[in-house]
Amino acid sequence: MGENPIGWRGGFCVEVSPVPNTLVIFGASGDLTHRKLIPALFSLYRKKLFHEKSRIIGCARTLMDDDAFREKTRQTLKVFCNGKCDEKKLEEFLKKVFYVSGPYDDTSTYKRISERIEGIEEEIACPNAGRVYYLSTPVNLYGTIVECLGEAGLVTENYEGLPWRNVIIEKPFGHDLESSKKLDRELRLILQERQIYRIDHYLGKETVQNILMMRFANRIFEPIWNNHYIENVQITVAESIGVEHRAGYYEQAGLLRDMFQNHVLQMLALVAMEAPPSFEANKVRDEKVKLLSSIRPFNKDRIFEDIVRAQYAPGIIDGREVPGYRQEEGINPESMIETYAAARLFIDNWRWQGVPFYLRSGKRMKKRLSEIVITFKRVPHSIFIPIRAQDLAPNVLVLNVQPEEGLALTIQAKQPGPKLCMGGLTLDFKYDEVFKGEKPEAYERLLLDCMLGDQTLFIRSDNIENAWSLLTPVLDAWQNSSDEKSAGQLYKYSSGSWGPEEADDLMYRDGYSWRNPD
Ligand code: BG6
Repeated sequence: MGENPIGWRGGFCVEVSPVPNTLVIFGASGDLTHRKLIPALFSLYRKKLFHEKSRIIGCARTLMDDDAFREKTRQTLKVFCNGKCDEKKLEEFLKKVFYVSGPYDDTSTYKRISERIEGIEEEIACPNAGRVYYLSTPVNLYGTIVECLGEAGLVTENYEGLPWRNVIIEKPFGHDLESSKKLDRELRLILQERQIYRIDHYLGKETVQNILMMRFANRIFEPIWNNHYIENVQITVAESIGVEHRAGYYEQAGLLRDMFQNHVLQMLALVAMEAPPSFEANKVRDEKVKLLSSIRPFNKDRIFEDIVRAQYAPGIIDGREVPGYRQEEGINPESMIETYAAARLFIDNWRWQGVPFYLRSGKRMKKRLSEIVITFKRVPHSIFIPIRAQDLAPNVLVLNVQPEEGLALTIQAKQPGPKLCMGGLTLDFKYDEVFKGEKPEAYERLLLDCMLGDQTLFIRSDNIENAWSLLTPVLDAWQNSSDEKSAGQLYKYSSGSWGPEEADDLMYRDGYSWRNPD
């Protein structure tokens, strides 16, 4: 066991290396490409999980040649490696990078991409290698790009799905139920569902992947994972950053679309779904769909009692004064966009009947924290009189997704001293203390899976529909009650706080409170 206090004894690790393929990134001069995608691909390359013969073609409107794009990529990677890149590896990697510029709605752009791909496939002697097209452009271009790819014959597969052509789509996938269905129809005119990889980067996070491993690779949790033992579940996805440079996008989106519809509901699905028969993409996604479609729809007459929205006001974070949302650059000074939401949900199935799920997410909150808190029921009777059953704190299991990845279980235990003396003891496991070294970034996992044709960690269209079906009535109700005094009003919370009091009330009413770490 060496210095490892927890006693990790190795395990079964299976990783498959992809065959040669070409990855085309649309939106290659954009932020996501350089912040996440290029570093993730380089990381895979260093781990020998990006095939020697694979190539990357960046595509964007910005005029650039291969050399200019390589230089931009080099700068990106120097920042990523903190100036400590292995120069040889970096230069090898850069040779695999190419660039095609042109408007996304112009057929000649796709002709050039096609010629580039053919040239590359000839050079690497892999005719008909697999292809990944990554759409990292504004969402209104998705339909056009896929249509043009279709017209250019760039996504054509035979009936067996070969040679494979996969398309990765960044969120947001529509802005409500109708628009997501419309987008889906557009994509499905050209692509099969098996070719569409809808990304939710939370699913690529190690600790989010761990939810299923923990639940279904251990026998001890399943018997207590239900309404007989669990009192309530909280899911928090809090950020301390504000809207940053994304005013244009955020003023259209707001928190419910940006975080709830995807990350928060996906975490809920993983925590609450039934065991799939196998860890195979459609089996896992079938269970998620079943779960999401079992969430009780918000009651129209009391929607605002079960979901609260708010916007950040000025405040202090880490000792620094920060502006309110309406004072941020590019934001409408009278904006009614929410930067925080908290909801109380119930799942109508046998397992979860009567267990409230409290979900919240917000920007400019006290600290960055994503966690799932499972509070168990108290003991039915105390034998330790005069200590009463209600004096004994319930067991709490915290699955910490970020930033201090790990899990903690609080139990009651004897404290030294008097015969009757007990208190909470926390068994605390931190990933970083046990698994030293770099953890793979979410995008690394997801890009690799797409190159391997594994859709398990991607969202299927019916999953997206379930999520929008639940939230679209809320968005509509907010839209229709936009004056500051109405029931669905937009509350304020100070930046650096844990959100508005009204969100606390959501739990107090049921006799609970949010876990708000210092
Ligand atoms: C993105 C949202 O999907 O997730 C951002 O669009 C948010 O608004 C981000 O900041 C949070 O991701 P992470 O991995 O930093 O928790």
